[in-house]
Amino acid sequence: MDSAQHLHGFVLALLVVSLSALLVRAAPIVEFSGDDSSGSSRTIPLSTNWESLAEWLHSEVLKLRDQQFRDVFNLPVNNSSFSLYTIKLPQITVADGCLSFEFKKENCLRTIAVGFQEYLQYMDYVKDSYTSGKDDVEKVRDTIQNLSADVFQRMKNPKSVTKLEINTKDILSHSSDSEWGQAVNVHLILREFTNFMEKTYLAIRNINERKSRKIIFV
Ligand SMILES: *[C@@H]1O[C@H](CO)[C@@H](O)[C@H](O)[C@H]1NC(C)=O
Ligand SMILES: *[C@@H]1O[C@H](CO)[C@@H](O)[C@H](O)[C@H]1NC(C)=O
Ligand SMILES: *[C@@H]1O[C@H](CO)[C@@H](O)[C@H](O)[C@H]1NC(C)=O
Repeated sequence: MDSAQHLHGFVLALLVVSLSALLVRAAPIVEFSGDDSSGSSRTIPLSTNWESLAEWLHSEVLKLRDQQFRDVFNLPVNNSSFSLYTIKLPQITVADGCLSFEFKKENCLRTIAVGFQEYLQYMDYVKDSYTSGKDDVEKVRDTIQNLSADVFQRMKNPKSVTKLEINTKDILSHSSDSEWGQAVNVHLILREFTNFMEKTYLAIRNINERKSRKIIFV
């Protein structure tokens, strides 16, 4: 049974590889389930570096979000008590032109770049407050920085992104004086960044797909 499945998988993989070499690159379907069903070798290297960086970043921050929630609040991650808390952090909206519908590449890249600049500052807050996740947060932070450099490189006018120093404390909804308040703030930041990264990953995949279509049909 196993070897038949393997053979099947191998033939499929071959098909995908040769088809995508000939035609439009077929983007792998990636589920945002948060489960790490690792071991499966879904490793046909179709993505460019920035696409895989974005994918990794999304899954890592999702993991971190759930881990912090369990560690700190001792509640199941599906507990909805915190969904009522809101915070105004960067998100990607339809108007930003990242979706296939009304695609505006430069605008989309700028939104992502600006968002990264801001989340980098919030990650420092997360690192200081959620000390047991410090190493993971640091890796996330470094990856944001690397991916951000990739995004800047692909912009026509990277200078349009001006560095803004935000006072994170003004935006966080809970007082940072109490441990509980800090923990809620960390959760909200991770939650918002997870959403931001999900859209960012889709946007990057979208940009890559458009590019490969252009090369083939123009
Ligand atoms: C959360 O998950 C637990 C365990 O899987 C389940 O028993 C519970 O019903 C879920 N609660 C909600 C609100 O989905
Ligand atoms: C979430 O946790 C709180 C506090 O323990 C509890 O009162 C509430 O019923 C839980 N909600 C869900 C949907 O599980
Ligand atoms: C970021 O990029 C630098 C330089 O290419 C590399 O050395 C480093 O390992 C990267 N960090 C992460 C977390 O990807």
